[in-house]
Order: sequence, then C-alpha cells, then structure tokens
Amino acid sequence: MRCKSFRMKAAIILLTGFLAYSFSVFSQAEKAFPYIITKKKVVTHGAVVSAHPLASKVGTDILQQGGNAIDAAIATQLALAVVYPNAGNLGGGGFMVARLKDGQQLALDYRERAPDKASRNMYLNEHGAVIEGKSINGHLSAGVPGTVAGLFASAKYGRLSFRKLIQPAIDLAENGFSITAREAASLNSIRDDLKKYNTVLPVFVKKEPWKAGDILVQKELAATLRRIRNQGAKGFYEGTTAQLIVAEMKRGGGIITLEDLKSYHAKFRQPHVFTYKQYTVLGMPMPSSGGILLHQMMKMVETRDIASLGFQSPEAVQLMTEAERRAYADRAEYMGDADFVKVPQQELTDSLYIQSRMKNYVAGKAGNSLLIRPGLPTRKESEETTHLSVLDSDGNAVSVTTTLNNSYGSKTVVAGAGFLLNDEMDDFSAKPGAPNLYGAVGGEANAIAPGKRMLSSMTPTIVLKNNKPYIVVGSPGGTTIPTTLFQTLVNILDFGLSTEDAINKPKFHHQWLPDRIDVEPAYPQSLREALRLMGYTIYERGAIGRTEAIKVLTDGHLEAVADTRGDDAADGF
Ligand code: DON
Repeated sequence: MRCKSFRMKAAIILLTGFLAYSFSVFSQAEKAFPYIITKKKVVTHGAVVSAHPLASKVGTDILQQGGNAIDAAIATQLALAVVYPNAGNLGGGGFMVARLKDGQQLALDYRERAPDKASRNMYLNEHGAVIEGKSINGHLSAGVPGTVAGLFASAKYGRLSFRKLIQPAIDLAENGFSITAREAASLNSIRDDLKKYNTVLPVFVKKEPWKAGDILVQKELAATLRRIRNQGAKGFYEGTTAQLIVAEMKRGGGIITLEDLKSYHAKFRQPHVFTYKQYTVLGMPMPSSGGILLHQMMKMVETRDIASLGFQSPEAVQLMTEAERRAYADRAEYMGDADFVKVPQQELTDSLYIQSRMKNYVAGKAGNSLLIRPGLPTRKESEETTHLSVLDSDGNAVSVTTTLNNSYGSKTVVAGAGFLLNDEMDDFSAKPGAPNLYGAVGGEANAIAPGKRMLSSMTPTIVLKNNKPYIVVGSPGGTTIPTTLFQTLVNILDFGLSTEDAINKPKFHHQWLPDRIDVEPAYPQSLREALRLMGYTIYERGAIGRTEAIKVLTDGHLEAVADTRGDDAADGF
C-alpha cells in the first residue's frame, strides 16, 4: 500500500515536472540563465503570476510558508523592485484591487502625487508650449513615490511579518541575480539615458555591455530595503532614504521635499464594481480611469451578442473599437483625481448614458473622433508598468498593477539609495490637448496641481462568478491597459478562448485620439484589410500589454498564465 502510494506520488511528481517543463519557454540564454520561465501552471493551493520568474517564486514561497495572497503580493512587489527595475519599484506607485475570503472588497491607491512645489504650467516654455521630455526624463518628472506606503497599508490584511516579506528582496539585491537576455538588452538600450539623467552613475551602467547570465548586484538598494525592514515606512519616507531622495533632487533640479515624502499616504477607496452578464467585475476607481473605462466598454458590447460575431472577425473588432473610441473620449474630458476635481462617475457609468453612446454606431463603417466627442451634456467643471495576480487557497484574490510609468521611469536613480524614480508627472495633462507619452490627451480634470494624483490607466481587475473569484487579471501598457483588459475578458467570457489565447493572441487598441487602430505586429493582415475597407486607419506598433491572469477552473484548480511578450512567469503549488 505504502509502496503503491509512493509510486503514485513519484509518478505525480514526474508528471508535474514534465507539464511544467512542456509549458516552459526557454530563451536563447537558456544556459546562462539558471531558472525556467514557466508560462502556465495549474495548481491546487495558490498561484502567483508576475513579470519575473524570481518574483513569482518569492510570492509562491510566501504562500507555502503560510502567507496569504496579500502577503504574497507584497513580497512579489518587493522582489520585482529588485529583479525587474524597468517597472518593479520603490520609487513609483500603484494600485491594488483585492477580494478577501470574507467577501471584503478593497481598492488601495498608492499612486504618486504631485510635489507641493508642482504647478500647472511647470512643463511649458515661455510661449506656453510643452517642453519636450521635461515631464518624462530626469528629476523634475518624478511624482512623490507611493509604493512603500501602499505595501504597508496592504500589510494589515496579511498574516506574516513584513520582515519576512521583505527578506527575499533584500537577499536578491545583496547577493545579486542572473539576468535574462531580455534584461541585458533592456539595460544596454537604456545606458545613454542613464548616463544623461543621473548625477552619480548607477549600478545599471557598467563598462562592458550587459549579457545574459551577468549578475546584477544592488548593494545600495539592499541597504534601503533593510532600512524599510527595520524602520517600517519611515525607513523610506523619513530619515536616511528621504534625505538621499531630497539630496538627489537638489543635485538634479527636482522639487520633491522632505515634507512631500513625510506627508504621503496611501488611500483605501471603494472599488469600482459593475456586472457583466452573470459576472461581477471589481476594478480600480479614480485616480485610475481603468475601472470606469472597462465598465463603459464592456457595457457597450454586452447586449450585442458579440460571441456570435466571432473572435477576430472584422465585425467584432469594429464593435469593440467603437466602444473603445467612445470610452476614451470621456476619459480625456472628465477624468482626473476625484479628490481634486468633480469626476461625474455616476453619469459616466449610467446604463442609459452608456447605451446612448452607441446610438450613432454604424456596423461596417468607421466612426470619426471629430464627430464622436465626450458624451455628457456640457457643463463647466473644474511603457513601463507591471502587473501581478495572486490567488490563495482560502480564496483571497489580489490584483496589483505598479509602475514607474516609462521603462525605468525618469531614468534617475537616487544615488546612495539605489532605486529609480518614476516619471509619473507625465500622466498629467501638461497642457490641455497636448498628448502625453501615450498620445493621450486630457484637460482641466487632469491638470497639474500640488498634491494631486495624476490620472492613470492601470486596471487591476478581479472577476467574480457566483460571488467567488473567477479571474484575477491585469496588465501594463499605459493607455492600452483598459483595452487590453477589455479584450482579454471578452476573449474569455464571450469568445470562449483559452486563457493563453486570450492573453497572447495579438491585440488592437483605439483611444479616440489619435483616430486610428493600433495593432501588434502579428495582427492578421486580412483583418487589417477588412478594417481599412470600413474606413479605419491601421497603425502597426510594438507589443500591447503583458497580461498576467489566474483563472479558477471548474474543478477548483487554479490556472496561472503569464504573457509570452516578456519574461513573465507563472508559479504556484
Ligand atoms: O498609470 C498609467 O496609466 C501609466 N503610468 C502606466 C504606464 C505603463 O503601463 C507603461 N507600461 N508599459
């Protein structure tokens, strides 16, 4: 009996190993890179999907040590701050949407905010024109970081000590880790910018070009993490770390002060909740446009039997494109930090209003952004991010998107503290109508003001089915995030695609202005042609999104799937 069960166990272990192997993607740097990137894992107890295999592993280890999904999400974010410097961060901000096992629903806002010395026209020249690059690179582009405050605010829902959650990150920074081919290429590509926007050369710049398998050691970052471990949030917002940030600001012409840092707080908000068919969707409210945009877009297609049109049919893509166009028109006009401006959230998500938006939709004929304007009755009112999804055996679901904004943020590293600062100030409208990094326009609602949070597109999302977590999902990608989520969810819920296909099949994006459909390079040519015939302009661009999802299967197993567009990895046990 014993022997039989041992053999069975051995067989299961072998089979699991084989499955993990067969779903793994080996990069060219396979030999130099000592860990496997698993793109899909089906597990029983808990799953973590993030942009880096080491970070997903850290999260999984925490679950195995008895931590819950919140603990795992914290540890994974801290690990990402070390192993994924493009977007994982201490010097940025993010959002967490969570659904706890007791049914509690959380939305935590740890978005950066404008420093007190920020002003409406700070990125304009004397002629009122936007100074190119000023809100994107260097010290002045940084908002007051929110991540560390967010991690501590969420920790009260965790089970393990913060000390335990931060230790893996400290070890990775102190001892170093082997970088992938993709990371090496990425660091090499940013070398000139890092030289340009730093007052002291950071560890990310070395004499020889980086190559796969090189070890990236970050001693200063390890010291900062230790200060956070020993002193809590004060280890970042006060004392040595804060002084290092302010000294960096002084050397580089930035404006963040000790007072800005000390007064930063993460904020719990009401999640943005809506229903879609038999599902309930939990999303992020202001200052992210993500929840409302997803709500508007999904409701615009809900009653139109999109499933019968078929995945990647010109008809379905056109319908979704026109929904995207209308939602993004509203984003540009009405959305911004609701603590500072009145955002008509009720009106924007009113079902009659949403239906009225599609009245002028004509199947087979491209809409026109000059004619399709922001929709509410007029009244006077005042690329690099990363997502992680975690689900534990108790049913706690956590969806976190966190960012420095652009890849490597402002490209400015705080000397002596070892972490990159964000360039999130670019998410404000530097000037009404002037496009930001993502080509998005905005106006009064998203104008710069001291202490205000800049409008985001990040869309960490949890879908409930029968009042239980069903899908935990999110993506980076600037303004393409809500459309990535829209497509991923419609792909699964309506077109019945597998989670891998829903994530990895090429995506498209329309954001009202510019009036065109962006498509990924692999987007089918015949589909582009069909859309052109309807009157659309097609623009080929790079990747759209890097989606990380966990879906609960009908037998209760957790299916964790990582996007193939990066080194993203699924883990769990
Ligand atoms: O908050 C936002 O919407 C942007 N700062 C996110 C940036 C982003 O996703 C870049 N990633 N590729």
